[in-house]
Amino acid sequence: MTNQPTPLRVGLLGCGNVGSALVTLVAEQRAEILLRTGLDLEIARIAVRDLSVDRGLDVAPGVFTDDAAALVVDPDIDLVVELIGGIEPARALILSALSAGKPVVTGNKALLADHGAELFTEAEAAEVDLLFEAAVAGGIPLIRPLRESLLGEPIQRVLGIVNGTTNYILTQMTENGASYADALADAQALGYAEADPTADVEGFDAGAKAAIIATIAFGASVTAADVHHEGISGITAADIDYATRHGYVIKLIAVAEQVETEGVTKVAVRVHPALVPTSHPLASVRDSFNAVFIEGGAVGELMLYGRGAGGEPTASAVFGDLIDAASNLRAGTHARFGPLPPADISPIADLRSAYSLTLHVNDEPGVLGKVATTFGENDVSIKSMEQASASEETGNEAQLIFVTHLASERDVRTTLDQLRLLDPVRSVGAVLRVVGS
Ligand code: HSE
Repeated sequence: MTNQPTPLRVGLLGCGNVGSALVTLVAEQRAEILLRTGLDLEIARIAVRDLSVDRGLDVAPGVFTDDAAALVVDPDIDLVVELIGGIEPARALILSALSAGKPVVTGNKALLADHGAELFTEAEAAEVDLLFEAAVAGGIPLIRPLRESLLGEPIQRVLGIVNGTTNYILTQMTENGASYADALADAQALGYAEADPTADVEGFDAGAKAAIIATIAFGASVTAADVHHEGISGITAADIDYATRHGYVIKLIAVAEQVETEGVTKVAVRVHPALVPTSHPLASVRDSFNAVFIEGGAVGELMLYGRGAGGEPTASAVFGDLIDAASNLRAGTHARFGPLPPADISPIADLRSAYSLTLHVNDEPGVLGKVATTFGENDVSIKSMEQASASEETGNEAQLIFVTHLASERDVRTTLDQLRLLDPVRSVGAVLRVVGS
């Protein structure tokens, strides 16, 4: 007779899309995981806010509870999975579980991006795992490759398309000529974008993910507040058209990089729409897919691609962490992330980049000269300029699109501030940085 191992009892906090998919995945894979690892994982308790909701899951009566606080300290629970999202009560529940000696798996990017250092410190003190593969780019294995396979790698830069909603919108605008408003409505109808799409379209979601990526890639704590972010809501069909005609696609790109400023190594983290050359691997990442492109000193370039959201892909990431945490628990060990001191953040004004800048101006003699002089006076060198047709319908407005050589963000901002004050300049349109060329 074979000895059956004692099941490892998992307490799940939250049972929405990802939680339900996890319950189903664990049930389907339980025997296989037992066979391969000797670990018998059982979702023993599930804490939900509303016990009356039928979640359509095949679980034993009594598994559901509405007392999450009791679940995380229950001596019969070995590991905790937090899928509630948001800051509180998730933070307090995770801290409570960790201090009760229970490994925690979470997909909570907002919490990690704001309070990661506190949670890692607690996990280290309790000598248990705090794993979070699902927090960045959903089903794509990224955190574990960064903290294990690439631990010895001098990572220079990570570029990511880490928000599926905005990538879907930009793909619709590029490939189907959709307006921003129509593409957003489409994304909402498909369930990608929320009724209030601000977190996705203004770059908050990608910013939180970028903070976590930078923290793990560079071994120093970066919070969401350290990330400069701009969104895609100002991108127009004309911007897309310009990009397409000049061999670029517009993508919302998260950038985390190490930069040298006067002999000091700093971390720069930002999220903004960017012109990406069509030859770059990230340019081919379409629809709601995500991808992360890593540039390392030894490994060179590599890219991880897949589903960045959705119940099943995200549950896959959670389950991988759960098996890892269970294995570590049995072995009496845990993952270490190092001391993670606060990162020395390079301000966005110190960025050097090539830019594409759109101006709407009066189409009259001498305007181009005044505009070009303003660039020159601020040390911003123009690489190319395109004037789109003026028409009487638009009151003889011309659209000027400048692409600069490498310039400092500080100088570009001063240039734009001065241009706004010029009489013939009606407005400044898209400001896009060129990334990946
Ligand atoms: N709303 C996100 C996206 C998924 O569109 O990628 C969750 O982070």
